[in-house]
Amino acid sequence: MSQRIAVIAGDGIGVEVIAAGRQVLDALSDGQSGLELQYTAFPWGTAYYHEHGRYMPEDGLQQLKDFDAIYFGAVGAPDVPDALSLWQLLIPMRRGFDQYVNLRPTRLLRGVSSPLANPGDIDVVVVRENTEGEYSDVGGRIFSGTEREIAIQESIFTRQGVERVVRYAFELARTRRKRVTGATKSNGIRVTMPFFDEVLFAVAKEYPDVQVSVMHADALAAQLVLRPTRFDVIVGSNLLGDILSEITAAITGAIGIAPSANLDPERRHPSMFEPIHGSAPDIAGQGIANPIGAIWAAALMLDHLGHPAEAARIIAAIEATTAAGDLTPDLGGHATTQQVTDAIIARLSHALV
Ligand code: NAI
Ligand code: MG
Repeated sequence: MSQRIAVIAGDGIGVEVIAAGRQVLDALSDGQSGLELQYTAFPWGTAYYHEHGRYMPEDGLQQLKDFDAIYFGAVGAPDVPDALSLWQLLIPMRRGFDQYVNLRPTRLLRGVSSPLANPGDIDVVVVRENTEGEYSDVGGRIFSGTEREIAIQESIFTRQGVERVVRYAFELARTRRKRVTGATKSNGIRVTMPFFDEVLFAVAKEYPDVQVSVMHADALAAQLVLRPTRFDVIVGSNLLGDILSEITAAITGAIGIAPSANLDPERRHPSMFEPIHGSAPDIAGQGIANPIGAIWAAALMLDHLGHPAEAARIIAAIEATTAAGDLTPDLGGHATTQQVTDAIIARLSHALV
């Protein structure tokens, strides 16, 4: 039975890398794999905003809700404030579809050099809470432009919200090296962060086979640079997870190769799969964007849709390609987006499952 994918390529290199990911998915849908995907493209992004005054139609979520997954490129353009694209397109999908896990796996691929002198075999997944926490619009400003001006922004941490994302991290750790590190800042943020830690340790009791610890996010950031191989699964709030996953992406090579999944693990709504990078206006249209982040995101999507063997084939083909030195300029190579995509497709058939 075919599965339905909503494709939102978005802006800039989003369009280029999603086209690359589509080619890889098409190559896998060869009639033998049992993989049958049906795509519907949505032209939402900055051009749509200029025409309609919004990043997606009013009933946008309604249009997406029956899809099995959303494959997303990137949005944002220099002539529109970034907060608009974020709050009108990305955040409505994450919250509206209760995609409460933002999953960000990173691994140091063969052939890719880390900026660290002695990186070791980095293999870390950051599980970031994706619907609440510090990214709230509860708050406001008064006395604008006067000396009394004041800005207040509330963080929202709910027991249910923390518990479910932490539980996901423990379940994931069980399939990996069985280590969970909670990112906290309970020394300075004295109400919400101790609460986060408390819920984490309560859930940990159900997973005696998983080793658990918490670290202050600043020290954790330093340890990610100094000794990244000690980490397996890191779980954190929306803000801390965002920052730490940028570090894990940076130490494993470049922002262009890291994928992310926005998951509703209960599958009540479609989950969304995207590279972590943005629309990169500085290189858009040149055909040199690294397609690996988007292609890896496609692998995460296949995994979620129940095709783990095909997902593994993609990741093996990506790594065979980087190992062979077929790299775009951001990784120090000379290959174009299309050449890297072709190289990955060519290796799909050899990739062992
Ligand atoms: P960015 O990720 O677009 O670019 C940062 C730097 O990394 C640039 O120098 C870019 O050329 C390079 N880069 C990024 N992806 C690459 C790839 N695949 N291959 C080669 N080089 C790559 O972040 P930036 O510049 O802060 O934001 C640009 C726009 O993208 C903004 O409008 C921002 O709001 C938006 N953005 C959207 C995101 C999303 O849709 N999820 C996430 C991050 C930013
Ligand atoms: Mg970020």
